[in-house]
Amino acid sequence: MMKIFLDTADAQQIARWLDTGLVDGVTTNPTILKKAGVGDVEETATTIAKLIGERPLSVEVTTDDPEEMIQQAKQYASWARNIVVKIPVETAGGRPCFDVIHHLECAANIRVNTTAILSMGQAILAAKAQSSYISIFWGRVADEGHDLFSVVESVDRWLARWESSCRIIVGSMRGTIDLQRAAEAGGHILTIPPELLEKWADHQYTRATVQQFVRDAQAVRSPTRVTGG
Ligand code: E4P
Repeated sequence: MMKIFLDTADAQQIARWLDTGLVDGVTTNPTILKKAGVGDVEETATTIAKLIGERPLSVEVTTDDPEEMIQQAKQYASWARNIVVKIPVETAGGRPCFDVIHHLECAANIRVNTTAILSMGQAILAAKAQSSYISIFWGRVADEGHDLFSVVESVDRWLARWESSCRIIVGSMRGTIDLQRAAEAGGHILTIPPELLEKWADHQYTRATVQQFVRDAQAVRSPTRVTGG
């Protein structure tokens, strides 16, 4: 079954959505932490990690240096068992990070979510490096007028063909149509900001329908109307 992660650092929203049974994990990135006004990554990460139990929490490295990524990943992983470390597929200068990913997964026994993936090639290489998750940034490409549907579909088929356990996370979701298309394309996990998940659950005509039922139910339930009618 497709999984849903929450793309947020808002513990209140996480607690609220956990109660629905819809949430299978949480992802963050430095921008999400900055927006949430997080000053201390460790404190926030440990709070969320505890809140979500066994479910995975992705926390991204804050350094662009591959050696430091390894040190930071080890630190993050020591905070809680369910922390998955997000490593960019390449540095800001274009140095591939597959050695970091491979070392963390295979030598340090730390689960990696390879992030900022925008092409099938990057996805295949990250999976070959043994990354547990690959995060494909759907909306960043859609912002430029392109569609990652066929990339997600092809990566899903490729992973299945080679019986890889690597899971596709489709992130960077902008609208409900993105969620539907990413699900249809075969994304194993959609990571969704809480406000977009709220939108996905809503339909104005469902609300109008329920309003009508609530109104009519009051009339039906009214003892005066039942007995007196
Ligand atoms: C999730 O893993 C990504 O970091 C996130 O969805 C990126 O979203 P953005 O493109 O809206 O910043």
